[in-house]
Amino acid sequence: MSSTWSPSSWHQRAADQQPAWPDVEGVDRALKTVASFPPLVFAGEARSLQSSLAQVAAGNAFLLQAGDCAESFEEFSADNIREKLRVILQMAVVLTYSMGAPVVKVGRIAGQFAKPRSSATERIGEIDLPSFRGHIVNGASFDPAARTPDPERLVQAYHQSASTLNLVRAFTKGGFADLGRVHAWNQEFVATSPAGQRYERVAAEIDRALNFMRACGVDTESNPILSQVDVYTSHEALILGYEEALTRRDSLTGGWYDCSAHMLWVGERTRSVDGAHVEFLRGVGNPIGCKIGPTVEASELLELCQRLNPAHVPGRLTLISRMGATRVEERLRPLLRAVKESGHPVVWACDPMHANTFSAPNGRKTRHFDDVIGEIAGFVQAHRAESTWPGGIHIELTGENVTECLGGADDVSDADLDRRYETMCDPRLNGRQSVDLAFRVAELISGTAT
Ligand code: TRP
Ligand code: MN
Repeated sequence: MSSTWSPSSWHQRAADQQPAWPDVEGVDRALKTVASFPPLVFAGEARSLQSSLAQVAAGNAFLLQAGDCAESFEEFSADNIREKLRVILQMAVVLTYSMGAPVVKVGRIAGQFAKPRSSATERIGEIDLPSFRGHIVNGASFDPAARTPDPERLVQAYHQSASTLNLVRAFTKGGFADLGRVHAWNQEFVATSPAGQRYERVAAEIDRALNFMRACGVDTESNPILSQVDVYTSHEALILGYEEALTRRDSLTGGWYDCSAHMLWVGERTRSVDGAHVEFLRGVGNPIGCKIGPTVEASELLELCQRLNPAHVPGRLTLISRMGATRVEERLRPLLRAVKESGHPVVWACDPMHANTFSAPNGRKTRHFDDVIGEIAGFVQAHRAESTWPGGIHIELTGENVTECLGGADDVSDADLDRRYETMCDPRLNGRQSVDLAFRVAELISGTAT
């Protein structure tokens, strides 16, 4: 079964969730163009992330993976990227400070453009159109021109990823992420919430610690460890032609890397062991993630581990469970046991978003903050019971003050959903809810939750 791999060997397998491009030659041309462009990330960076994730697998660090459900070609601005980073930094500070453990930061950013859909078409009234598959494929509005898959979007996705990554690198290495600026990350609408005030107290303690260190002769500016942070990029490797076009041989090791992002994951809908997505990902050297939902069986999961990480490399494979708040404990425990017995050194991360989605009375797709926390609590509980490490969380959020998820400290209600519901796809936690969540997660992991 394990025939030779190449960046194109996935073509021999069934590929789910690929758009029906009407302009096949256009796709060919666009992919050739992308293949001629420089890589977005370097293999060495992917390897650094993998060694950090190995620390998570070993129980010595925590993974924070967070960002948009789907990035937008329309809402593409410096503000938008900065606000997202700001929340991620705030959450990272809270987790690092409260848990006293390193936090590996990975954004769903700079390439998260493709969405799997439950149906190939969408019907409104008497009209059937292709479903929206993310801006790398088509437009969201319900009209025939927007919904027709357009190959030029593959090229545009590359360019937007490059600009986004450029700004992420500038913000994370150029002073914005300096620990001396912890207070500045607290946006006004966050600072006025209880979570924001709790954050202010942590920030004040960090300030005092930094003052002490400055008095001792250590200042943040001259210490990159304190003034800079590594924020890695990740997205779902869904549109395989695009991923193949960015797959390059590393001149240092001779291995293949998908240079569209540091980390790629395979979704719950496309993770079939013999399918094209798993075939593609098994051959690239990047750290990879695999989403697993409540229907996965232990035997199937072990096959996936074997296929994706036959050499048992720690940090190579992150299993991202999305089981639902009510059944996470019961579903997860046998899987934790089976993977542990198999000796696979995986990172276990919890996606508390995707199995807790429902429609509000007004038809808006939403999630309740309590269910999100509930799933993380069950996840931690399951790991406690099996003596494994609850290694991380995978969150959909935005820095903006949106009202897309219910609950949280200011108790967003059904009626509030229409106020600022801006997502193109799934509902995201807003800045306040995200900072609140970081505190709750730290408490759950440290075992001090009330
Ligand atoms: N470089 C360290 C880290 O990433 C400390 C650090 C600097 C930091 N800026 C940060 C941590 C911002 C969290 C957020 O852990
Ligand atoms: Mn989503």
